[in-house]
Amino acid sequence: MDIVMSKPVILTGLRANNDLHIGNYFGAMLPMIEMARQRAGEFQINMFIPDLHSFTTPIDHDQLQDQILNNARLYAAAGLPLDHDDILLYRQSYVPAHSELTWILDCFTGFGEMSRMTQFKDKSQNLHLGDYIREKTGLDTRVTVGLFNYPVLMACDILLYDAQYVPVGDDQTQHLEFARDIAGRMNSKFGDLFTVPHAVSKQHEFFGKGQGLRIKDLADPSKKMSKSDDSDKGVIFLTDDPQVAAKKIMSATTDDKASINYNPIEQPGISNLLQVLALLRSQPIDQIEAEFKGGQHYGDFKRIVADEISRFLTDFQTRLSESDNQAIYAAFKRSEERANEHANATLLRAQQAVGLRPKEA
Ligand code: TYM
Repeated sequence: MDIVMSKPVILTGLRANNDLHIGNYFGAMLPMIEMARQRAGEFQINMFIPDLHSFTTPIDHDQLQDQILNNARLYAAAGLPLDHDDILLYRQSYVPAHSELTWILDCFTGFGEMSRMTQFKDKSQNLHLGDYIREKTGLDTRVTVGLFNYPVLMACDILLYDAQYVPVGDDQTQHLEFARDIAGRMNSKFGDLFTVPHAVSKQHEFFGKGQGLRIKDLADPSKKMSKSDDSDKGVIFLTDDPQVAAKKIMSATTDDKASINYNPIEQPGISNLLQVLALLRSQPIDQIEAEFKGGQHYGDFKRIVADEISRFLTDFQTRLSESDNQAIYAAFKRSEERANEHANATLLRAQQAVGLRPKEA
């Protein structure tokens, strides 16, 4: 079984169940878009909207279509070129191979393996605790089989396109490891079926500063910034009013040490703000730390971060208002055709391997 080798693939997706926040932006979107702008031609860039993943936790289904389009507009505003041959922008559910391969790989995945996924444990815990969400919103908060096995769907998202590089935030590292595990397992059982994505350490090297990040919630820096959170005081969305975002920075939880240091364990709040500033200014964290180290006036420092975030959002939102829906739909159409070709070729290899299709079809 030959794997068709063309350009190496860089791939990522961001769930479309809410506005994206600066954690999503710096953790996954920016590293991907920088690659698209600098290295398309050398690499194939697959940026997709994992719409099937959107309802692993409860959502308002009437809004999903708008949210999918809004996400694509966010990618465009962040600088994703829409008309380059080597850059694909597609919706996952428009490529049925994702669902089909998921079923096959489900049957080679251990129940125990999925139960150990920390994100499942955290999210199912939140849902269990979510009675008040159910009461407030009428949403069904039961823990679903979809939430349980979505790492298999995510593995298929990656393996169908032979993707080697996958920029994700730190919270998705375990899922990426699982994609490597299941690919290796299938390959040892059936021969060369899938391209195994690179190990996480190699991904970090490749993407540099933006990879493996975990931006923390501003109000509670012991947890990551998350769009499925019930309160948004600690989350800066890309569509937040710049003044509101600045206020969120000004009221971020810090500590009483009165000394600025980059120490995520002892001083998670102030360290998170240093990290955010480093990302906003595209400077290494040590340079930012050196500039502010030992400073006692948290308020002055916060003001600098707040001004920087409000400038960033103002520019971003100007580009967002200019992004063109027609160009996005044209990119979907072109990309979904190409994505189906690649994904169907991989699916066929898997179907042949497990005996669902004759070998020389
Ligand atoms: P999702 O939609 O929860 O998050 C999208 C991306 O944003 C990163 N991220 C963060 N990075 C830094 N700090 C944070 N606070 C933060 N919060 C989120 C996530 O790590 C992710 O990279 N299952 C995925 C989507 C997905 C995917 C894929 C990704 C589906 N199939 C295939 C890559 C390849 C998810 O739910 O991400």
